[in-house]
Amino acid sequence: MSTTEQRVAIVTGSARGIGAATAVRLAAEGRAVAVVDLDEAACQETVDKITSAGGTARAFGCDVSDSAQVEAAVARVAEELGAPTVLVNNAGVLRDNLLFKMSDADWDTVLGVHLRGAFLMSRACQSHMVDAGFGRIVNLSSSSALGNRGQVNYAAAKAGMQGFTKTLAKELGKFGITANSVAPGFIATDMTAATAERVGMGFDDFKAAAATQIPVQRVGAPEDVAHAIAFFTGEQAGFVSGQVMYVAGGPLN
Ligand SMILES: NC(=O)c1ccc[n+]([C@@H]2O[C@H](COP(=O)([O-])OP(=O)(O)OC[C@H]3O[C@@H](n4cnc5c(N)ncnc54)[C@H](O)[C@@H]3O)[C@@H](O)[C@H]2O)c1
Repeated sequence: MSTTEQRVAIVTGSARGIGAATAVRLAAEGRAVAVVDLDEAACQETVDKITSAGGTARAFGCDVSDSAQVEAAVARVAEELGAPTVLVNNAGVLRDNLLFKMSDADWDTVLGVHLRGAFLMSRACQSHMVDAGFGRIVNLSSSSALGNRGQVNYAAAKAGMQGFTKTLAKELGKFGITANSVAPGFIATDMTAATAERVGMGFDDFKAAAATQIPVQRVGAPEDVAHAIAFFTGEQAGFVSGQVMYVAGGPLN
C-alpha cells in the first residue's frame, strides 16, 4: 500500500453506541469506514456524521451471525470501499436472565451475535488482510467476561472473545495481522439504558450508582472505548497483539 492509500475499516454494530463512536474516530484518523449494522437505513446517521466532517463512510446492512450475509457484506465493502484490513467486531446484544430462567434462544442469540459474528467476520476479512500483509482486528469483550450475575450467556461470549482474540493473534501474526480485545466496563449507551429499564431504575440513578463503584467516579462514554480501539488499529501498533485492555475506569477484581 502506498502511504496515500486509505485503509478500509469495518465496524460492526456501528449504527449507535460504542460502534458509532468508533466509526467516527477511525474515520477522523483517515480510515474509510464501512458502517455495518442490522438495518442499513439505521447506519445512515453515523455515515452522515462522518461525511459531514469530511470523512469517507458507507452503510451496509448485515446480520453478523448469518454466514451468507457476512460473506456478501464483506464482498460489497471490498468492491465499494476497498479491501477491509481493519475490523472491529463490536455488534452485540443482551438477553440477561438467571440461569434457571434462561431460554435456549437467549443463549443462542447472544453466543451467535458476539462469538459466531466475530468468527464469521474475521474469517471473511482475513484473506484481504493476508493479501495486504497488514491487518488489525479488535474484538469487544467486557468486564462481564470475569463473571456477572444474570449473564451466563453474555459472560461466556465475552470470555470466549478473549480466547478467540489470542488464537487469532497466534495464527495471523505472521501475515502482519494483529488481534486484540477491548473489554469495557460500564459505558453509557442504549445497551446500559435498557438494563436500567429492566431492573426498574431511571438511567441517571443507574449511572450514578454505578459511578460510585468505579475508581474514577464516573461511568464511561462510547468515546472512551473508541480511543482504546483506535490505539489497537493504529499503523504503529504492530507489535501489540493478543492483548486484552480493560477500559473500565479502574482495575477489576
Ligand atoms: N455499554 C456497555 O456498558 C458495554 C460494556 C462492555 C461491553 N460492551 C460491548 O460493546 C459492544 C457495543 O455495545 P453498545 O453498548 O454500544 O451496544 P448498543 O446496544 O448501543 O449497540 C449495539 C449495536 O449492535 C447492533 N447489532 C446487534 N445485533 C447485531 C447483528 N446480529 N448484526 C449486526 N449488528 C448487530 C445493534 O443494532 C446496535 O446498533 C457490544 O459488543 C457490547 O457487548 C458494552
